[in-house]
Amino acid sequence: MMNPVALEHASRLVNHGPTVLVSTAHEGRRNVMAAAWSMPVEFTPPRIAVVIDKQTLTHELLMASGHFALGLPTPALADFSYAVGTRSGREGDKFRQLGLEPDTRNPLELPLVPGCSAWLLLRRIPEPHSESAYDTVFGEVLWAAADARIFANGRWDFRDDNADLHTLHHLGAGQFVVPSRVVQAKG
Ligand SMILES: Cc1cc2nc3c(=O)[nH]c(=O)nc-3n(C[C@H](O)[C@H](O)[C@H](O)COP(=O)(O)O)c2cc1C
Repeated sequence: MMNPVALEHASRLVNHGPTVLVSTAHEGRRNVMAAAWSMPVEFTPPRIAVVIDKQTLTHELLMASGHFALGLPTPALADFSYAVGTRSGREGDKFRQLGLEPDTRNPLELPLVPGCSAWLLLRRIPEPHSESAYDTVFGEVLWAAADARIFANGRWDFRDDNADLHTLHHLGAGQFVVPSRVVQAKG
């Protein structure tokens, strides 16, 4: 259920701090890991910072290819998200190990995780100084899509009747919360 999201609204997809699944691929290798630390850093063009440990296979493939994807997992993907965050693709193909075939039908043919509520494709923005000092990677969003049952017209719509599409927010040690109550400020 991928519906295109206008780039001007892409930052909203991660504005509320969801755990993301970082997909990468390079020269026949593919991988995915969980990242709890990401945030938008610019509206136009939309740019997002993600902390990706330099020791990870994800970092290696991202640096080699110059691209990466983010998927926003739903509650049904909690076990998958924790599993891809607690083992390395250096020990074997996680998609195969966990029995989930990624979807490569996207403009960069990156291995997206099916069943997410949204997906973003990004180009790495080379930042030699910060990349050498920190594990933070900056990316420019090139394309985004979301499940229209929960994100439409540039807005999330978290409701009880679409709770199976809510985003996951990591508390630590494999425990996640979902956005259970929306509070609307007057304005
Ligand atoms: C829920 C969750 C969130 C995580 N968040 C991050 C993160 O923000 N940054 C990071 O570098 N690692 C994070 N990790 C750890 C990586 O996902 C982990 O190191 C992974 O095994 C790397 O896989 P790879 O070597 O196949 O790339 C997280 C793990 C979990 C379970």
